Amino acid sequence: MAPDCGATFGTEEILVACPRCGALLEVAYDWDRIAPPRSLRDFEAHWSRRGDPHSFSGVWRFHALLPFAAREDCVTIGEGQTLLQRSDQVAQYVGLKPGRLFLQYEGMNPSGSFKDNGMSAAFTHARLTGAQRAACASTGNTSASLALYCAVTRLMRAVIFVGSGKIAYGKLSQALDYGALTVQIAGDFDDAMRRVKEVSQTLGIYVVNSVNPFRLEGQKTIMFRVLEALGWEVPDWIIVPGGNLGNSSAFGKAFRELLELGLIPRAPRLAVINAAGADTLYNLFENGGLRWNGGRPNPELIRAYYDDMDRRRLRAETIASAIEINRPVNLTKCLHALDTCRGVVREVTDQEILDAKAQVGAGGLGCEPASAASVAGLKRLAAEGVVGPDERVVCILTGHQLKDPTATVAYHTTDQEMFDKVLGSRGVHRATFANRAVSVANDLNEIIRAIELYG
Ligand code: F0G
Repeated sequence: MAPDCGATFGTEEILVACPRCGALLEVAYDWDRIAPPRSLRDFEAHWSRRGDPHSFSGVWRFHALLPFAAREDCVTIGEGQTLLQRSDQVAQYVGLKPGRLFLQYEGMNPSGSFKDNGMSAAFTHARLTGAQRAACASTGNTSASLALYCAVTRLMRAVIFVGSGKIAYGKLSQALDYGALTVQIAGDFDDAMRRVKEVSQTLGIYVVNSVNPFRLEGQKTIMFRVLEALGWEVPDWIIVPGGNLGNSSAFGKAFRELLELGLIPRAPRLAVINAAGADTLYNLFENGGLRWNGGRPNPELIRAYYDDMDRRRLRAETIASAIEINRPVNLTKCLHALDTCRGVVREVTDQEILDAKAQVGAGGLGCEPASAASVAGLKRLAAEGVVGPDERVVCILTGHQLKDPTATVAYHTTDQEMFDKVLGSRGVHRATFANRAVSVANDLNEIIRAIELYG
């Protein structure tokens, strides 16, 4: 991936970074040998073959665009059955015209988040290398996904590292239920990430975090499904929350490859949305002027930023725990994506995130806090006039509404103490779109009166 290095490795090797230059690796295909499809419409042939697990999978029906393993060796548990929903109510909230906003519900995956797209691909590679154990550091969704793939396939044992108290209950409960070895570290995601790299090197465990390039191959398919749902038309904007920046990096690669293959006429624009309490990309890209620069982003800018962060002992802090990350491992790849897609980066407060989340819930299938950062970010971009009211926009809703019930219940509660504890401490002071439960005595007349009053 680094143009000054140029080292290449076979897919049989287990590497998360280039042993020569230290940069992350990227999967490259020799399209002349693989014969890619001539038109995206060719993929429609899979729609009539739903009995075949690889055609049914929303990842592997696009195998021709991520052909790093033989089709029959690809691991699937039925991931990628997701939905692109037109949402006029949310469009109105963010300031777009009816029919212009679409929400891509990745929470409909088997483990309830977009991670299953990438996990099916990383798991496929892990199996090909004969791995017995697979590990990840996680804010919760990667670990839930890894634990599920291990539980369903019985191919590997899952070892997961989470920051103590830094994971939403829905996600922790999944890892425990699916039987993963769960290591709670006294620290946050950035600490857990550092440790998982050390431990996996020492013990020879396969790492499935998005430093793993195969993860990103699977996550490209989110974009293929968006195009599929729009009749293969390219939208004007893709808006995605940014944490470790695996998704945004994967999306950029997807569009670069589709352009290279002549399968789309242009790339959409990309907006990556940070939480204000975890905004490394925003600071470096929008304030610091860091750019991809033909594969040579200024390392001094990045080093100085992290040094300053360490000096100030700055820790990521947001209610959107999934993106509570200050050292995004895919920073450089994301710069490439922003370059491919004429991207922008914005940051949004926890207040904006929770208000947007309530709107998504009221107007659609619901999502977890981190996912709503995309909608909150769009609202800002529309207010700034960067996104026009007539443009066709897709927000990626990365995780299911049930992942983080604590944040949702606290937003809607009438219990001021609970509100202050969960949200007030994070600078959230209003619940403008709260839907408060009505308390009544266990008495038929009172219940009827309450329904007539509020219903
Ligand atoms: N949304 C959700 C629901 C997530 O779980 C994550 C990442 C993101 C957005 C950010 O995506 O890292 O590709 O920029 N969760 C990771 C985890 C870090 O461990 O589950 P990204």
